[in-house]
Amino acid sequence: MRVLFACSLLCACATVPPRPPAIDDPHSFARPYEVRSTHLDLDLTLDFDRHVARGTATHLLERFDATAPFVLDSDGLNLIAIADQDGNELTCERPTTPDPVRGTRLQIRLLPTTKRVSITYETAPDAEAMQWLDPEQTAGGERPFLFTQGQAILTRSWIPLQDSPAVRITWSARIRAPQGLLPVMSAGERGHDGDTATFRMDRPVPPYLIALACGDLVSRDISARCAVWAEPATIDLAARELSDMEHMVAACEQLFGPYRWGRYDVLVLPPSFPFGGMENPCLTFATPTILAGDKSLVSLIAHELSHSWSGNLVTNATWRDFWLNEGFTVYLENRIMEHLYGRDRAAMEIVLGMQELGAEMKTLPAGDQVLHIDLSGRNPDDGMTGVPYQKGAAFLRRLEQIVGRPAMDAFLRQWFDEHAFQSVTTATFLAFLDQRLLRDHPERRAQIDVERWVGAAGLPIDAPVPDSVLFAAVDAELAQWRNGTPPASLATAGWVSQQWQRFLSGVADADAAAASPSRLAELDDAFAFTRSGNSEILTAWLVLATRNGYHAVDRRLELFLMTVGRRKFLKPLYEAVLAGADGKARALAIYRKARPRYHAVSQRTLDAMLGYTP
Ligand code: BES
Ligand code: ZN
Repeated sequence: MRVLFACSLLCACATVPPRPPAIDDPHSFARPYEVRSTHLDLDLTLDFDRHVARGTATHLLERFDATAPFVLDSDGLNLIAIADQDGNELTCERPTTPDPVRGTRLQIRLLPTTKRVSITYETAPDAEAMQWLDPEQTAGGERPFLFTQGQAILTRSWIPLQDSPAVRITWSARIRAPQGLLPVMSAGERGHDGDTATFRMDRPVPPYLIALACGDLVSRDISARCAVWAEPATIDLAARELSDMEHMVAACEQLFGPYRWGRYDVLVLPPSFPFGGMENPCLTFATPTILAGDKSLVSLIAHELSHSWSGNLVTNATWRDFWLNEGFTVYLENRIMEHLYGRDRAAMEIVLGMQELGAEMKTLPAGDQVLHIDLSGRNPDDGMTGVPYQKGAAFLRRLEQIVGRPAMDAFLRQWFDEHAFQSVTTATFLAFLDQRLLRDHPERRAQIDVERWVGAAGLPIDAPVPDSVLFAAVDAELAQWRNGTPPASLATAGWVSQQWQRFLSGVADADAAAASPSRLAELDDAFAFTRSGNSEILTAWLVLATRNGYHAVDRRLELFLMTVGRRKFLKPLYEAVLAGADGKARALAIYRKARPRYHAVSQRTLDAMLGYTP
């Protein structure tokens, strides 16, 4: 009896491991502290005619509570069958109406023997994570294209899973696509089995980092571990622009420790991609609008690559902690830019970032100016402002200023090494900061109010004030221009892209008389802004021209809005159109035509901005 008792106790210990701590994630229904998925196996067929993916998602389970159900997130999925490893059919409860932010909770009842759950399903044609492009929306113009975007909580619209960044899983996938369309995914191990593409990610990642693209794709090697992927029509330009990738990875490793993901590739997508870049592991997704021809916009790649440390290796546990991903990444990005292109370039980029933050802060309610933002009940996308990015980076630069660069670098490396492949909260970071940098140094502690940096609105007064000698030169020329000097007489020779951005922001701030349509025409004659191939310069110019009634840009503006879907550009452009005479009618006329070409993420923002109901 005694022996039996001991044995059953032991068995119970073996099958029910101790519960992990519960992290409260208001954006997921999952209860990973009861039952959690540890590995996902995907088997999907892509149907480009119907705009759906169909197949199975199989989850390997770890069960901490023997009677609890397996709770997952989903959004718009059509469930076909649910079974366990022995083929037992499992029942699934779900509410009839979805939650407006989180989607639909799936609650699957498990048998005592259930270890693995397979869900057969089909995605909705309007799944938010997926953008299906018609051939005319691609560079080649002949074949369709698909890409997914998971961050922040969109993965649930193409895969049923526990869609919280605190739930890390390994995954594997088999993807079938029509002939001539090549699937690629955010995994280092890629292969094929007949006409099926296979992928494997053996490091645990948060669900928002699972990504798929499929189209007429080719690749070009940059180094043994780096390649660029794009459509054939774009590959030459992309490979030339991104030829410094290997140097960037090497710089990162030197500064922050080993690159732990094997390959680092970049996929240049068609222009409807709603973001600048997305740090999908092993395969950053990027907008083609960074291909300026002179490498002037490659800091975006430095940014996405940096996420291989801050974000992908050490991940925000909830979307409140998003600044741990983005603030760290902006800081690292700038360190790489300094390392590769020098202090002047890095300084200009800091000034531009802080300038944008200053302007945006004025438009944000106090609660949204806080790093550790409360997003419960809201879409995490609402937290995607300059605050987590630029205020977060400013916080780290302030710490660097206090402790010095060597101590800061050692600290960052320890942070990454000791939290590798973990999801962390702001509280974890603050405790680590206190323990490693502040506790034993009262003189340092006296110089920074950490609680205020993380928990209060606005920019603390001790935020480092960046400055740039190269911008001082621009400001001097701007003053000349404001005083009436004709553009052709300004000393602009040798200016780089960031200096032109500074120049245009100065022109935008000038009064209406100084920036009259005729004076903008003079600028355009001298510098050909309307024909600029640099998307940052072009956008800044189109915004300021539209706001000041210089209508020679109208055709260029409409063409840009019809092709580019990057939200960061669309927002200020539509705002500028709205502000003009008859603005609402004009904005809506353009939007009605362009909207079908935009990703759901951009559509959501612009629908709200323009008061458009689909
Ligand atoms: N991870 C973000 C993109 C993102 C954030 C997508 C939140 C969805 C929700 C990516 O790393 C990013 O920050 N991209 C920026 C560019 C960067 C250089 C600041 C972008 O897309 O503008
Ligand atoms: Zn980022």
